[in-house]
Amino acid sequence: MPDAVGLILAKRDGRALTDEEIRWLIGSYTSGAVAEEQMSALLMAVYFRGMSPGELRAWTAAMVSSGERLDLGAVPAPTVDKHSTGGVGDKVSLVLAPLVASCGAAVPQLSGRGLGHTGGTLDKLESVPGWRASLSGDEMIAVLRSAGCVICAAGPGLAPADRRLYALRDVTGTVESIPLIASSIMSKKIAEGTAALVLDVKVGSGAFMRELPAARELAQTMVGLGAEAGVRTAALLTRMDAPLGRAVGNAVEVQEALATLRGEGPPDLVEVTLALAREMLALAGIEADPAAALGDGRALDRYRRMIAAQGGDPDAPLPRARHRQVVTAAQAGWLRRLDARAVGVAAWRLGAGRARKEDQVNHAAGIICLAKPGDEVAAGQPILELRSDDEARFAAAAEALAGAVDIGPAPPPAVPLVIERIAAA
Ligand code: URA
Repeated sequence: MPDAVGLILAKRDGRALTDEEIRWLIGSYTSGAVAEEQMSALLMAVYFRGMSPGELRAWTAAMVSSGERLDLGAVPAPTVDKHSTGGVGDKVSLVLAPLVASCGAAVPQLSGRGLGHTGGTLDKLESVPGWRASLSGDEMIAVLRSAGCVICAAGPGLAPADRRLYALRDVTGTVESIPLIASSIMSKKIAEGTAALVLDVKVGSGAFMRELPAARELAQTMVGLGAEAGVRTAALLTRMDAPLGRAVGNAVEVQEALATLRGEGPPDLVEVTLALAREMLALAGIEADPAAALGDGRALDRYRRMIAAQGGDPDAPLPRARHRQVVTAAQAGWLRRLDARAVGVAAWRLGAGRARKEDQVNHAAGIICLAKPGDEVAAGQPILELRSDDEARFAAAAEALAGAVDIGPAPPPAVPLVIERIAAA
């Protein structure tokens, strides 16, 4: 019988744990038999020692087995989901799920809430009056059948080991570990029951992974785990140095997603959304042109059906902030850099994000990027509009934006948003 201290020592000293030891460890931690301080020490050992491919496979499988696995067999269309590692202004899911559904796939999207400088899809959709993130398994399948897509919170029975481990990692300095991130994300996606999955792995200042090699390794690791679990998985590495689109916040992002569903979206958001949609449709075995569905109202119709099926009123006015303040260009020239992380932190300080899991977000707060990198600006021209219900928050937001903007005499070099595609070997 393994014991927790023995496993901590083994991992600390560089011995790979066996499948049986990992099953015991995850099971015993989930049931409360392994103490938080013991799991903390083990996570730190994993952080420094990494995991072998065999350990990672067993760890992920044990996290999946810690809870229920959804059965999407009753859904009459190929299932395909998307997961983003998180960014600033990343409202892609709000457009992508209905878009891909309108092309004939079923999109079961279990999403999360924002923490820190990155926003969460559920927080954004909760700007819509009446919309509910928490659905039972039966309700989720009913929405999926009627609208072709559903965006909701994962229930407590899905990968409960990850729920506890993620909270522990958050307070023990062990979040930024590629095997721990990969197993955390993939255990939830495998348990969700989707047949196929596209990963949007963000790279850059506003992303979890700021450097390309680490993002590539994370993507390859997750794609490998998906393939081993029988989920057809591919990843796109996409750039997250500037906010995606112009809106950063909650209601303001829903508004921009709606414009995109009407065919009036900002070019960068449209480009990333269509690239992911094409990957999802290819994995689902569907031949369709997502660009056409974005322009002709079919995707918008799916969005409205999904919102209404989850109790929301798609025609209700969205919350609007009481106060606005602009940040202006210090000089004339070309906007060369608008730092995604700084804009994310500023939006968070305006009230759009939360500092602790239990905090409420303010749905009206956020930032509108009136200029984006590549735009020519005049001295004194407004480049950011800050929105908040609390004027006292503007000073802290402006402080976060110090040094976030570069204006120069020439436009920045054009860089592709989709950097690389990673598929199973
Ligand atoms: N998202 C997750 O679900 N888990 C991680 O570890 C990181 C991001």
